[in-house]
Amino acid sequence: MRIDAITIFVDYFNSLELSLLGKARSTGILDFQAIDLRDFTNDKHRTVDDSPYGGGAGMLMKPEPWGDALDQVLAADGSSTLIVPSPAGEVFNQAMAKELAAKSHLVFACGRYEGIDQRVFDYAATKAEVRLISLGDYVLNGGEVAAIAMIEAIARLIPGVIGNAESLVEESHGEAGLLEYPSYTKPASWRGFDVPDVLTSGNHAAIAKWRHEQSVERTKRVRPDLLTED
Ligand code: ADE
Repeated sequence: MRIDAITIFVDYFNSLELSLLGKARSTGILDFQAIDLRDFTNDKHRTVDDSPYGGGAGMLMKPEPWGDALDQVLAADGSSTLIVPSPAGEVFNQAMAKELAAKSHLVFACGRYEGIDQRVFDYAATKAEVRLISLGDYVLNGGEVAAIAMIEAIARLIPGVIGNAESLVEESHGEAGLLEYPSYTKPASWRGFDVPDVLTSGNHAAIAKWRHEQSVERTKRVRPDLLTED
C-alpha cells in the first residue's frame, strides 16, 4: 500500500520510522512519504496561508500550493483516496480503518491554521475520493497527529505488518465488537494482587468463557454505546 501525507511539518511523521510500521516500510509492504507543502509555493517566503474572505479570526491555507501538490501526488486514474483530518469530519473507527486498509493509495492532507480553502476539496473530488475524518470530538492544532494515528490504525491491518495476525482478532473493537478482557503475565502473585484462578487452571473452555464475560461486562460498563450499535 502507498500512503502519502502532505504537510508543512514533515518531521511529525518521523515516528513512522519506528517499530512495526518502520519495519513494514523497510520490507516494502508500506510505501510512505511525507511531502512538504511549502515545496509547492513560488514566493520567497514560501507562503501557504492567507486571510479568509468574509472576515473572521485566523488564517486559512491558500489553494494554489495544495492544487500543485495534489496534481503531483494523486493518481491520474482516480484510484487515490484523499483523507482530510478535520474535527468537522465523520468520526474514525475500526470499521473505517479496515475499509481504508483495502485501498491502494491514501493521501492525507494535513491542514494548519483555521483550515484549508474549500475549493481544494472541490477540486480534489474531481480527481479522487475525498473523506473528511475526525479523530474525535476535540480540536487539535493541525491534521498531523490525527493522520499519524489513522495511519497506524490502518497500516497495522495490512497483511504482513503484524507478525501474529491472531492478535488482530482478539483485540478491542475486533471481530466481536467488544472491548478486550483484562490480561495477566507472571508472576502469579504481585504486590498482594493475584492472577484470577481460572487463568492458571489449564481449563481452556473455562478461560474462554471467563474472558468473554469480562469483555461483555467491561463493554457494558465503559462503552454501552458499542452494544446498541448494529
Ligand atoms: N484536526 C484538528 N482537530 C482534529 C480532530 N479532532 N480530528 C482530526 N483532525 C483534526
